[in-house]
Amino acid sequence: MTVLVTGGAGYIGSHTVRALVAQGRDVVVLDTLELGDRSRVDGVPFVKADIADGRAVERAVRRHGVTSAIHFAAYKAVGESMEQPLRYWSNNVAGSVALVRSLLATGVDRMVFSSSAAVYGTPERVPVTEDAPLRPESVYADTKVAIERLLATCGAVGLRSVSLRYFNAAGASDDASIGEDWDASQNLVPRVMKAIVTGEPMQVFGGDYPTPDGTCVRDYIHVLDLAEAHVAALDHLASGGATVTCNVGTGIGTSVAQVIDLAEQASGRRVPRTVGPRRPGDPSAVYADPTMARTLLGWTARRDLRDIVASAWRWHSSGR
Ligand SMILES: NC(=O)c1ccc[n+]([C@@H]2O[C@H](COP(=O)([O-])OP(=O)(O)OC[C@H]3O[C@@H](n4cnc5c(N)ncnc54)[C@H](O)[C@@H]3O)[C@@H](O)[C@H]2O)c1
Repeated sequence: MTVLVTGGAGYIGSHTVRALVAQGRDVVVLDTLELGDRSRVDGVPFVKADIADGRAVERAVRRHGVTSAIHFAAYKAVGESMEQPLRYWSNNVAGSVALVRSLLATGVDRMVFSSSAAVYGTPERVPVTEDAPLRPESVYADTKVAIERLLATCGAVGLRSVSLRYFNAAGASDDASIGEDWDASQNLVPRVMKAIVTGEPMQVFGGDYPTPDGTCVRDYIHVLDLAEAHVAALDHLASGGATVTCNVGTGIGTSVAQVIDLAEQASGRRVPRTVGPRRPGDPSAVYADPTMARTLLGWTARRDLRDIVASAWRWHSSGR
């Protein structure tokens, strides 16, 4: 009953591996370590390999008795995906096709997949429900749509799956031993932390949006809640649940200025910043309708933005 976790040495993957291990579940991590760190999953069976390497994946599945997979492995930098599209199509999409083929060849019939709210692009209305039109605005988002579609067709060949559309993952582990490194992420919370720790001003992209304080509104989801959503998705599939695509968010929209305020409260320091122009393609407000995850998976976020920012600060201020 082992769970294969691809990309398990990355940010979200490592928090999920720890959540699985804490519940006594058997796990094997498969990661190239190109962007991951082995020490985040110390003591967990580990295979250094690419998801596209069919022989390595099939060997890992057989050796560890894998019956399900959680598939995090991917490149995730939106800007980079526009500059190096083939790298993204190849690693994310071709890699996922190869992985699915290896899983089916070895009798693994369940997968949880890391999708993204980026598939919605600029939504017509918020909160966003899963039936909103898909309007990817980057190659990265295109690859997530393509893999969701791949998985939607795989029921016919025996693979059931849950695609989780993450909103803005953030925060760190309770023991402040793992978190989101600002060197590896363009996301807001690590950028705010970097500004506090280094004193280098961060840029706020746009202060003139039609939102209460003029800054963009997003749905920040604690990485530990996200980890729990994966466990719930695995349980849904283990109990015979059908293939489904679910938002994973809190349903609460929070502005950039609110995140900065909370970071100042948590750290007791000012966040040095400048307000610059809007970033092309940044919608003013995106947040989830998380009803489907609650009703189908029995999952709801338990932590709030204060918990996210406090945990990120504990991790960043403890020397990372
Ligand atoms: N961080 C977010 O806010 C966010 C939001 C939406 C979706 N996602 C998705 O969640 C997943 C995990 O994101 P993360 O933030 O933990 O990223 P991350 O970069 O920290 O982790 C990705 C891991 O995958 C590994 N990897 C990449 N390509 C691989 C391959 N071909 N074979 C094996 N390993 C490979 C990397 O070495 C890394 O350890 C990604 O699919 C990402 O697109 C992330």
